[in-house]
Amino acid sequence: MKRYGLIGYPLSHSFSQRYFTEKFQREGITDCTYSNFSLASINELPAVLADPELRGLNVTIPYKQQVLPFLTAMSPVVESIGACNCIRIDGASRVGHNTDVVGFERSLVKKLGSHHQQALVLGTGGASKAVEWVLDQLGIVYRMVSRSPRPDTGDLGYDDLEPGLVACYTLIVNTTPVGMYPKVDDYPPLPYEALGPRHYLYDLVYNPERTQFLQRGAARGAVVENGHEMLVLQAEESWRIWQERA
Ligand SMILES: NC(=O)c1ccc[n+]([C@@H]2O[C@H](COP(=O)([O-])OP(=O)(O)OC[C@H]3O[C@@H](n4cnc5c(N)ncnc54)[C@H](OP(=O)(O)O)[C@@H]3O)[C@@H](O)[C@H]2O)c1
Repeated sequence: MKRYGLIGYPLSHSFSQRYFTEKFQREGITDCTYSNFSLASINELPAVLADPELRGLNVTIPYKQQVLPFLTAMSPVVESIGACNCIRIDGASRVGHNTDVVGFERSLVKKLGSHHQQALVLGTGGASKAVEWVLDQLGIVYRMVSRSPRPDTGDLGYDDLEPGLVACYTLIVNTTPVGMYPKVDDYPPLPYEALGPRHYLYDLVYNPERTQFLQRGAARGAVVENGHEMLVLQAEESWRIWQERA
């Protein structure tokens, strides 16, 4: 049996386990299993890695950075952004990848127009690093928006988001958990009246399907997308990496 799984904490409702279990059933894959490993501390990881049948892991909050010392090699993206969400395991070899980057890029570009040249990225946590990397690759100029912007970084605060400024930044990516179930009435404090049909609002949140952030953008005619497709694409990219010939 080839074993795969997800490490994180807490893992109350994991998209990945359901996704891979259904995928294995759908595609008649009978020699693989996918489990949740809810680890209260990263120090519990060696016990998981000791399983000789383990072939790959996904990594989620809060371990995307803490897992780096356990890798024997990393992809250039992981080296650059310092976050890993996928590990390929071959015996003693543990290579770290970041498939959030692939998932976000492939999903984002589907609705991206040539006029989406300037972006605001809301939030400065783990997921924002993958978003920054993709925007850099696509040559899109961006400003980070934080609740506590450090003066030396050039990041904006939410109070800086005047309508005139928001009108110019036609791509806005929410990487904060604001609006996520169960707090579905919350939304990032933006001057939504400044949005229009040239705007593209991308929310990494996927539950609910349409957050208040996306609803308010759509009401102004903006193009909108949630994080569900990104989630599916990152899972499929993980699978591709695990199945690649050595
Ligand atoms: N669709 C996908 O495939 C996918 C992949 C990864 C993550 N996600 C989602 O993306 C979201 C963020 O994940 P993450 O790993 O980056 O989380 P995180 O490390 O906790 O960071 C989120 C950032 O959002 C900001 N933030 C947090 N709480 C906030 C609040 N109450 N109001 C305003 N800003 C707040 C903070 O930035 P500041 O302190 O600078 O304001 C924080 O650093 C989660 O909802 C996660 O489920 C989706």
